[in-house]
Amino acid sequence: MNPLSPETVRQHLEQARTSVDAELDRLLPPAEEYPPSIHKAMRYSIFAGGKRLRPTLCLQAGRLFGGEEKSLLRVGSALELIHTYSLIHDDLPALDDDDLRRGKPTSHCVFGEATAILTGDALLTLAFEIISDAGAPSAECKLRVIHELAHAIGTQGGMVGGQVIDLETTDRTSDAATLDYIHSAKTGAPIRAAVRSGAICAQAGEGDLARVTTYGEKVGLAFQIVDDLLDVLGSQAELGKTVGKDGQQHKATYPALHGIEPSKQIASRLVEEACEALEPYGERAQILQGIAHYLIVRNS
Ligand code: FPP
Ligand code: MG
Repeated sequence: MNPLSPETVRQHLEQARTSVDAELDRLLPPAEEYPPSIHKAMRYSIFAGGKRLRPTLCLQAGRLFGGEEKSLLRVGSALELIHTYSLIHDDLPALDDDDLRRGKPTSHCVFGEATAILTGDALLTLAFEIISDAGAPSAECKLRVIHELAHAIGTQGGMVGGQVIDLETTDRTSDAATLDYIHSAKTGAPIRAAVRSGAICAQAGEGDLARVTTYGEKVGLAFQIVDDLLDVLGSQAELGKTVGKDGQQHKATYPALHGIEPSKQIASRLVEEACEALEPYGERAQILQGIAHYLIVRNS
């Protein structure tokens, strides 16, 4: 089977981004709605840029099993709200203390720290309001998706748990198992939840869910390894965020623990394994496989 060219993958990502952005614009309160300070700040960070990777993964996993477009876009948009909340909070002075994100000044630099905290809270809350709103998918699917996302961003192997260990190991020597926990929890779990929630919306069976789970876990870990590599090798102009921060802050990262070349090889191997998990779907899985490959050659 011929893999999709990077150009074709980019076109798929671009198409998904356009649809997701239109849906986010519909779902977010207008900037002027009372109280305008928070609605402006929510829109500022959401529309500052971003690849819309998590919604795209949700859309593509859902389409693989015949999911309905409207539900997938809704759940995908909720994933982006959650992701943007995590970026705003991650950049706060008490956490990574960053002043650049998605090529723009971070939320707390523009709106102040208190509003940035509340903006993250508001995006997280709106995500669950949107998923639990009337309309498709079925009530049972919604409940499963809500549980899936809440677990993936919580403390038990989820995003907040990973973030806690990330903070607690800063300035300390970490072992490989701790580093894998951090990466799989803070970044991998939400990415796994993105593909799983798409598949759940499409009422995929247990075997199908198991395959997309493997894909999501491997792609999720590879994604954070590449994020670590880009912090060392990437450019601020392309990434839209400060580079070299991990080293400055003595963070536990793949290049620091395993070296640059071994980290690249581990990421490539994970992507191969992720793609293998979807082989039973033949050509239907080409886009998800193409996205996985794109993620390790990306420069932003
Ligand atoms: C960049 O995503 C983001 C990551 C690699 C995830 C890092 C993990 C966190 C920020 C978790 C923080 C958790 C809490 C609780 C504060 P991306 O390259 O897809 O960014 P984009 O959407 O701007 O393209
Ligand atoms: Mg961080």
